[in-house]
Amino acid sequence: MPSTDTIPCVEFRAAPADLPIVEAILEAAELLWSSYTNLETAQVLVWVFTDSAAEAAAVADRLNTALAARRQDFTGALPRPAAAMLRQEDWEHSWQRLFKAFRVSSRLVLKPSWETWPAEPRDIILELDPGMCFGTGYHGTTRACLEFMDDLAEQHGRVSLLDAGCGSGILSLAAARLGFEPVAAFDHDPQAVAMTQANLERAGVSRVEVRCADLADYAPARPCRVVVANIQATALLEHRQRLCQWLDTSAGPATLVLAGILTAQYPGILAGFTSLGCREVDRRTIDEWTSGRFEFPAGQKRP
Ligand SMILES: C[S@@+](CC[C@H](N)C(=O)[O-])C[C@H]1O[C@@H](n2cnc3c(N)ncnc32)[C@H](O)[C@@H]1O
Repeated sequence: MPSTDTIPCVEFRAAPADLPIVEAILEAAELLWSSYTNLETAQVLVWVFTDSAAEAAAVADRLNTALAARRQDFTGALPRPAAAMLRQEDWEHSWQRLFKAFRVSSRLVLKPSWETWPAEPRDIILELDPGMCFGTGYHGTTRACLEFMDDLAEQHGRVSLLDAGCGSGILSLAAARLGFEPVAAFDHDPQAVAMTQANLERAGVSRVEVRCADLADYAPARPCRVVVANIQATALLEHRQRLCQWLDTSAGPATLVLAGILTAQYPGILAGFTSLGCREVDRRTIDEWTSGRFEFPAGQKRP
């Protein structure tokens, strides 16, 4: 018999798109199972619970056969169930295994609180635990924004930044740590605003102004040298004039970082913002997302 603090099980990973097939196979086999999906990492962890290690081995064999029989239906890699022994403690934190520390740009490292990271002298460690809001840093749009922001901080130093659609607050936290000042943020979701405030407070960052507001009616306290907006492409296009109006060009060209754009939507964004006088400076494609860095020239009439 397993000890009371261990759980015999079968464990495997699957692509989120393949979960319906996995579910159908597990339900047909009348198994007791649970899963955790992280849409940002595009991974699902599945556990099938059994009464003993021997039963787990037998169930793993049966599942491997059942999954292989439907190989042609899977969009991602064919899952490989294996018998495992979960410690009760690990089960409670099993989802944490989907979140690892990683380097996101030349200086920025993202790290959940339970991981360690051997920091190099220039490293800026952002400690952020995943929560209910978008912004763990794994998503291609967030990663592109963080890469652009690291470059911009090196080039421009201490300039103002606005984080439009702040989610978990990851970009505001990075901005404060990279030396942008002042930093302001807003989101139309009150839960995101609360999470941004909590994450900034936990990180000891007190000087970010966070507001609950919609892109349609937000009014910044002052224009900003850098505006970062990781929001859906349709909203970016609809509110493109407002986004440009928030830029401060008094000391040179201002920067607009746009993300939340599927690669197929990028030409529309490029045309929409170029027509207002923005110039594309750089673009990054990560997974199926393309993000752009634009400049609005100093002295040019605002749209
Ligand atoms: C893709 S997430 C980005 C989160 C974070 N900034 C990041 O880069 O990981 C988009 C965020 O924008 C917010 N949002 C979407 N539409 C919005 C709107 N019209 N006005 C304000 N916030 C909006 C959502 O609530 C969400 O938190």
